[in-house]
Amino acid sequence: MLEKFVDRLPIMPVIQPLMMKNQIPYYDLTMKESMLKLHRDLPPTRVWGYNGLFPGPTFHVFRGQPIRVLWRSALPEKHFLPIDTTVHGADHGAPEVRTVVHLHGGVTPDTSDGYPEAWFTPGFQQVGRYFTNAVYEYPNDQAATNLWYHDHAMGITRLNIYAGLAGMYIVHDEEEQSLWLPDGEFDIPLVLQDRSFRADGSLYYPAEPTPPVEGVDPSVLPDFFGKTNLVNGKVWPYLEVEPRKYRFRILNGANARFYGLSLSNDLPFLQIGTDQGLLEHPVPVTNLLLAPAERADVVIDFSSSAGEEIVMRNGAASPFPQGKLPNPKTTGVVMQFRVKKHLSSPDHSNVPHNLSTYHVMNPVQSNNERNLLLSMRPDEYGRSIHLLNDQLWTDPITEMPRLGDVEIWSLVNVSNATHPIHLHLVKFQILDRQPFDAEVYENEGRIVPTGKRMKPALNEQGWKDTVRANPKEITRIIMKFEPYAGLFVWHCHILEHEDYEMMRPYVVVGKG
Ligand code: C2O
Ligand code: CU
Repeated sequence: MLEKFVDRLPIMPVIQPLMMKNQIPYYDLTMKESMLKLHRDLPPTRVWGYNGLFPGPTFHVFRGQPIRVLWRSALPEKHFLPIDTTVHGADHGAPEVRTVVHLHGGVTPDTSDGYPEAWFTPGFQQVGRYFTNAVYEYPNDQAATNLWYHDHAMGITRLNIYAGLAGMYIVHDEEEQSLWLPDGEFDIPLVLQDRSFRADGSLYYPAEPTPPVEGVDPSVLPDFFGKTNLVNGKVWPYLEVEPRKYRFRILNGANARFYGLSLSNDLPFLQIGTDQGLLEHPVPVTNLLLAPAERADVVIDFSSSAGEEIVMRNGAASPFPQGKLPNPKTTGVVMQFRVKKHLSSPDHSNVPHNLSTYHVMNPVQSNNERNLLLSMRPDEYGRSIHLLNDQLWTDPITEMPRLGDVEIWSLVNVSNATHPIHLHLVKFQILDRQPFDAEVYENEGRIVPTGKRMKPALNEQGWKDTVRANPKEITRIIMKFEPYAGLFVWHCHILEHEDYEMMRPYVVVGKG
């Protein structure tokens, strides 16, 4: 077993623009294969990363300052992870290595949104039918928050992200800068992922589920859980800290693993932000639950922990919530903080009670309400296929809000797993969650609520772009479809689900 806390936590380098083009910073990134040391005792691991890095370099942008990015691929033509050619998008002789970049949580016109069928191959030799442009434009006209960019190629997203194609994208604004939150070296992104390795250091991703499926090899899995946790691309790293406040921008970047984070000395995470920006007020949390793609902006105050070694633990079951609890010696451990450094300067940072103004959306404003089923059925090989509203990717588009409309989406989860549901383009608020009668649904297909509508947790009462829809619950979210009309997607962010039909296109219909 790999020893824990032997590697220092890496911090991803900040990407700089190549030049200014008409007042607009212009970036140029290339996806490349590289061999990286992911743990002291592992031989170098082959990864695919933006500019060869895993995770990719971090963007720092400012609200209202657009940027342009040329995303290119110099990846090999053969994938090193097992491709299932029965999965939509990886079938019909599609080129094996396809990529397209999505800025998760970015308010972006559809031509720069990384539509799954807007993929391209190395050197743009081949492109998907929705490919329009190689240079993407990000307007950055949104509140300060922590976004991330990652691959989104149809049918192989789970493999491309597992190979390493993901990075952080941080938006700043004046509101955030007027607060005295910890910054500089005391402001650190943490990208949480799980991976398995072979003895030779190579990444292990199973070619089939257990037990295997008759007639398909390789086959997509129902979900994948790695045997080790990585933070910023290192297995079980440690970070030496000073006895002061630190800001951590935490991303769950795993394929399917949920993280239920806690600190071994019971220090709270003071959560200051959600997926889409600062909370109205900070919320102390001792158990911080993050589904794949969710982010939490937190402050940890180490000032009373000088000399201590603190372990960040994970207590979330996989699959969530009814699966196995993590092993406290392996997947139950994330990283370690060593409060061993001396104060280099007085800590003048502060987390004020009022962080941001937050206007609660009123359900009365909504123009339309949709019931959307999250369900599961066996495919022709007996594998489980997760669906949104019982429809396949190729079925006609059914979600067509008009530009400027406010809608309530009721996510009715009749399956046994929590699905983190993500919509491109929009930010939303969680209205409530309500249990319903699973038995009545089984027998009669009717949805009969059995309890009250429950408000989301305090640290979910902020702007979100990914929501946990729990089994046997109706989760209601409300959002305004703006500012762009166009073709987008919504999907479950468990990558094995997303790749195997739990994703649907949707259209924001322009006026006139
Ligand atoms: Cu994080 Cu559609 O993606
Ligand atoms: Cu799912």
